[in-house]
Amino acid sequence: MAEQGYPDQPISLVVPFAAGGPTDTIARIIAPPMAKALGQPIKIENISGGGGTTGITEASLAKPDGYTIMIGHMGTHGAAPALFRTLKYDPARTFDPIGLAAGTPVVIVARKDFPASDLKSFVEALQKKGSTYSQAHAGVGSVSHSTGMLFDSIVNVKPTFVVYRGTGPAMNDLISGQVDFLTDQIVNVVPHLQAGTIRAYAIATPERSPALPGVPTTREAGLPSFEVSAWNAVFAPKNLPKDVHARLVDALDKALDDPTVRERLLKLGGRIPAGSERGPVALQKLVESEVARWTPALSAAVEEQ
Ligand code: MLT
Repeated sequence: MAEQGYPDQPISLVVPFAAGGPTDTIARIIAPPMAKALGQPIKIENISGGGGTTGITEASLAKPDGYTIMIGHMGTHGAAPALFRTLKYDPARTFDPIGLAAGTPVVIVARKDFPASDLKSFVEALQKKGSTYSQAHAGVGSVSHSTGMLFDSIVNVKPTFVVYRGTGPAMNDLISGQVDFLTDQIVNVVPHLQAGTIRAYAIATPERSPALPGVPTTREAGLPSFEVSAWNAVFAPKNLPKDVHARLVDALDKALDDPTVRERLLKLGGRIPAGSERGPVALQKLVESEVARWTPALSAAVEEQ
């Protein structure tokens, strides 16, 4: 049964990273139209730490009444199980999936004055004996950490990791030149590339992004083995009342059809889920396949560390 008149109070949307990064950006794009569909405000609550696993763990323990939901991603619900021995949730069992919110291609970006003009010379610089470059990431298990580790293992480099509570703050340090590079979700890099405050070497997808037409794919740039894409999705603590679950699924679906949401996501290079990719069944399948995909890939990369 639905809670009486759900929702009759504001809903909390937990973002497990610092404000200003990709997860936060996507949450803030989908929240207003979801709130409109539900008839109640949605408040964003940033609970960062542990590569996103702190906020997701905390949100997973909330009452399953539809008043606490969360936005997870390829890291928290795909890569994290391979990297944490004592993860306090199971991405495929601890949640009621609501639906995929966006696909987010991964881009290799560096500080504006990094001394390399293309991906090949960038990799050569990292590989140079005695090089001391730094690589930002948003904590163990995050997208920037897991895809960054994969990149490092493919090109056989060991930069110094600098850990942030999200790639929002990491991007600030990239812009000011305090850190050298990272692999980040497209929605966080497009505005800075357009402003010319950072540089991009490649996008790790088979096709170029219409949001970054001048950035070559890793395949074009000579590194076809580094092809990864990330995603963000909405989850709730397990055992929501059926009607509450259905309201949230419907609200996300309506948000994804909202012209403003579509325009904002597309401008930032986000991919809007097609009909067949939407909803809880498709998200459950995605989570299961991502855990199966990342576990062997990351276990190998971790062994090389
Ligand atoms: C990540 O690296 O997992 C995310 O981009 C972090 C964030 O959303 O800030």
